[in-house]
Amino acid sequence: MIDKDAFSNGQIDSKLWLCQELEKIGWASDLTHIYGGWHGILSFLLLSREKFRVERIESFDVDSLCEPIADMINENWVIKEWQFKAFTLDCNQGVRGTPDLIINTSTEHFESMEWFDRIPKGTRIILQGNNMPHDDHFICSNNLQEFVNRYKLQTIIYQGSLDFNYPSWNFSRYMVIGIK
Ligand SMILES: C[S@@+](CC[C@H](N)C(=O)[O-])C[C@H]1O[C@@H](n2cnc3c(N)ncnc32)[C@H](O)[C@@H]1O
Repeated sequence: MIDKDAFSNGQIDSKLWLCQELEKIGWASDLTHIYGGWHGILSFLLLSREKFRVERIESFDVDSLCEPIADMINENWVIKEWQFKAFTLDCNQGVRGTPDLIINTSTEHFESMEWFDRIPKGTRIILQGNNMPHDDHFICSNNLQEFVNRYKLQTIIYQGSLDFNYPSWNFSRYMVIGIK
């Protein structure tokens, strides 16, 4: 079932922010992997904006319900020789392939750091996290520095936070872009 939170302001603006910062850097990619790709909305935005030059995006999520939903949302690129494809996979168990960019905007949902430890040094990385305490979250970063310090990168190209203020609650999303 589609989770309507995937289309909420806090989710969509966070992904648009990622698109904008990635486009400013000007990276191109032969193969981008998205960990915890959920409904594939980030892929949809990256591909439909047509500013980030990417040959192929593969999206991985441990929840098997996500694969058909992400493929449906990105059907326009699934039929173009698999420019997009979703897979059901626990990224902590290892992900096959040689991506030149790995994105994880779901870091707070990952039970361990195994997925990060398995990424080869030299890989380009984009990560998002937040300071939102939630039953489904294993990690809650209190500020940007705490978030950035968690993931050891040899080069940081961008780091920043985006605040979301609503009438009864608020939270901050953190992002780091760099090379492991
Ligand atoms: C609620 S969603 C995404 C929220 C997030 N803020 C975003 O940017 O979309 C988090 C996703 O991470 C997935 N996930 C958690 N642990 C995972 C793992 N080990 N491997 C792959 N996907 C995982 C969950 O199944 C879920 O679909």
